[in-house]
Amino acid sequence: MTTAPSKRPDRIAGMFDAIAPRYDLLNRVLSAGIDKRWRIQAIRSLGLTGRETLLDVCSGTADVALEARRTGAAARVLGVDFARAMLRIGVGKIAREGRTPEITLVQGDATNLPVLSESVDAVTVAFGIRNVERPEAACREMARTLRPGGRLAILEFGVPRIPGIAALYLWYFKYLLPKVGNAVSKHSSAYAYLPASVSTFPPPEVFCDILVAAGFTEIKAVPLTFGIVYLYTARRA
Ligand SMILES: C[S@@+](CC[C@H](N)C(=O)[O-])C[C@H]1O[C@@H](n2cnc3c(N)ncnc32)[C@H](O)[C@@H]1O
Repeated sequence: MTTAPSKRPDRIAGMFDAIAPRYDLLNRVLSAGIDKRWRIQAIRSLGLTGRETLLDVCSGTADVALEARRTGAAARVLGVDFARAMLRIGVGKIAREGRTPEITLVQGDATNLPVLSESVDAVTVAFGIRNVERPEAACREMARTLRPGGRLAILEFGVPRIPGIAALYLWYFKYLLPKVGNAVSKHSSAYAYLPASVSTFPPPEVFCDILVAAGFTEIKAVPLTFGIVYLYTARRA
């Protein structure tokens, strides 16, 4: 059994700050480019009209925020993340695309969001919730910032349940991915942390219960790409 890795905020922020320069490249390589499709699917699931304000929690280098604007799904995006170096890269990408007036990135913790209550129409979290030390508190915070009826979309890695695929994937995820990740990022533990954090994250049924307790309804957990990733969708009661 894998032991749950430490998710102390200073450790997690420090780890993402350290890998920030190679984070986007590794995402594209290690997911063979599918990560972009997963983010677009999450944004589409929100059913936005293009006039709304979207809050992207654990925004990192702003890939979801940028995609939400490129697709015209939301009018404005506010991204929050506690890793300064990830945000710095995001700010550069936003400026290069000329989207500075549309997207604002703010440093902050998912468990204490610097956002007014009931002030946003939709919330996204892509591959972030697994890293939060107290995911229950982050889910409550997301419910607090959403207007009643507002929609939530969370992407998080899962463990495929189809036997042959699960074995192949676990080999890739536990052995090959950490080797490539460590070699490219030059960080000795970040890409070993990834499989450890995924295998100790609550399974979909349990995470759905966390969303119920935080004040969400209409909760669905949809497996994407054989269950390598789950898309959780919900509505704020
Ligand atoms: C795997 S990256 C995902 C980044 C981005 N959402 C994406 O789709 O590429 C996880 C991000 O979550 C951030 N994070 C983790 N825990 C956090 C917390 N408690 N508060 C704010 N940000 C957090 C990290 O700093 C990191 O940038």
